[in-house]
Parts: sequence; structure tokens; C-alpha cells
Amino acid sequence: MRPIRKVVIPVAGWGTRSLPATKNIPKEMLPIYNKPVIQYVVEEAQQSKIEDVIFVTNRDKSVIEDHFDYNLQLESVLERAGKLDKLEEVRHVAEMVNIMSVRQKKQLGLGHAVLCARGLVGDEPFAVMVGDDLMFSGKPGIGQLIDVALSENMPVIGVMEVPWEKVSRYGIIAGEEVSPGVFRVSDMVEKPAQHEAPSRLAIVGRYVLTPDIFDHLQEVKPGIGGEIQLTDALRSLAHARGMMAVRMEGTRFDAGDWAEFLTANIYFAMQDEKLHTELTALLNRFVM
Ligand code: UTP
Repeated sequence: MRPIRKVVIPVAGWGTRSLPATKNIPKEMLPIYNKPVIQYVVEEAQQSKIEDVIFVTNRDKSVIEDHFDYNLQLESVLERAGKLDKLEEVRHVAEMVNIMSVRQKKQLGLGHAVLCARGLVGDEPFAVMVGDDLMFSGKPGIGQLIDVALSENMPVIGVMEVPWEKVSRYGIIAGEEVSPGVFRVSDMVEKPAQHEAPSRLAIVGRYVLTPDIFDHLQEVKPGIGGEIQLTDALRSLAHARGMMAVRMEGTRFDAGDWAEFLTANIYFAMQDEKLHTELTALLNRFVM
């Protein structure tokens, strides 16, 4: 398989679970400690040697692209004020990766969002990272999948074990473990009832796909609300050419879920030595 140079990051959803915060601010721009959610996702891509980021956006999301561009006015203010560490930080964000974007003009689901990127991806394998799914581990999440995709020459999806009572919220895979944490996928089912789930290995928002996924996406029949589900196309791709799954190591936060979003904020703030003591004391006043 050719090296993975491009990642598609869909960010065009409405973020209804995060309203009213997301009425005018994309949920991907909400902060986790001192950085917006999307910056953590792009950093994970960059640490995995991905050079080109393709955002699938909508008319209200241009602020996401702006975040990864230079802000010359702000830079000159910081320079004149001698705030050189801040200057370095804001410049660094603009220099991390190349940014491209494509509009998803109607919000017809995650599968449709990926299909919108077809022209920019072209005929090469690529990564997909869901823009509100945060992964933290020693080895960057998407990098864990890229290694297996390159060695097996197959598409790879990220999975994590979830409690049985939560399987109905996820796409769940069936498969055989061929080496520790690596599975050959035989089937997958979207949001199964607990008694129908083939495992508790849930598909999380990280994928390495081959360009033939686009043909499968084009064939998928829209479901409820006209949405084109990525899982349906993945299932079809798995049957047609085979697919692996990797049980991802690390911690995951769904930034669209308030409890997880808030926990992620505390998790990151706690890693900052200066904040740690102060924050612990403040939290102790509220948490019995
Ligand atoms: P979600 O279902 O988590 O996001 O989709 P959402 O639709 O924005 O949020 P809620 O459920 O209404 O709160 C996962 C990812 O897919 C993108 C979203 O932006 C999110 O990053 N997405 C979803 C699209 O780009 N287009 C879509 O049509 C749907």
C-alpha cells in the first residue's frame, strides 16, 4: 500500500447534542483546556506523518480553516508586546499541515461527508478521523492503524471495547483475532440490540481506507433522514476486499458528549503542572 499522506476530517455536522453552545460556534472549536478540539485531532494526524488535511465543512465552519492559517495582525501584536512564547504557539498551528476543504452542502451523514472528499483524495489510500473524537495514547491513534494497513495492505478500522450496555450506540464488528489486538473483520452491524451484538468491539472515529470505498459509498442506500452511513459502505468494502480492525490503545473522549467533553478538559488541565494544585483544590470543594 502507498504511504498515507492525506486525512479526511468531517466537521460538517450540526452538533445538536452540544447546543446551545454550538449555535454559532462549531463544536470542533470548543476548547479542551487551552486548545480547540480540532487541534488535538490535527496534531494526532501530524504525529502520524500525515501532511494534507481535508476538512469536510459547511457554510458556518470557515473558522476551523482559519485556526490553521496565519493571523498576521495578531502575530504583529504579540511581537510588539514581546509575547514571543505565544507568538511561537500561534505560528506553530499554522505550520503543522497543509489544509484543504470541501463543502458538504447538505448534512446527509458521515458516509456522505467522506464521499464529498473524493475529488481531493484521488486514487490513493487515505485516513479518516472524526472531528469530535479525541484519542490519547503513547503512539498516536491513527498511526496505530496506518502501521497495520501498510503491513497487511488492507483497509483498517479502529475499534475499542465498550460495556455491553453501550453496544447499541455504536457500529459493532464481528471478527477473528489474528494477532494481539488485530482482527480480521467478517461483518459489522450498526447500533445492534445488546442480544444481537456479535462482540463489544465498537467502531470509533479512526479509519484507514482504500479509494474503492468511494464506489461503495455511492452504492449505499440512504437510511433514516436520507443519511448515508459510513458503516454500510465499510461493511460492503469488508465483504468485497477484506478489512482489518485494530483494538486501539489509549483513552478516547467523544467531545460531542458533555460528560466526556468536561472530563477531557479536566484530564488535560491536570497535566499542566502549574494548574494541577490549584485545580485539585478547587475541584475538592465541589466533589464529595
Ligand atoms: P456526529 O453525529 O457525532 O455529529 O457525527 P453531529 O451530527 O455534528 O452531532 P450531533 O449528534 O447532532 O450532536 C460525527 C462527525 O461527522 C461529522 C460531524 O461534524 C462529526 O465530526 N458529520 C456528521 C458531517 O461532517 N456531516 C454529516 O452530515 C454528519
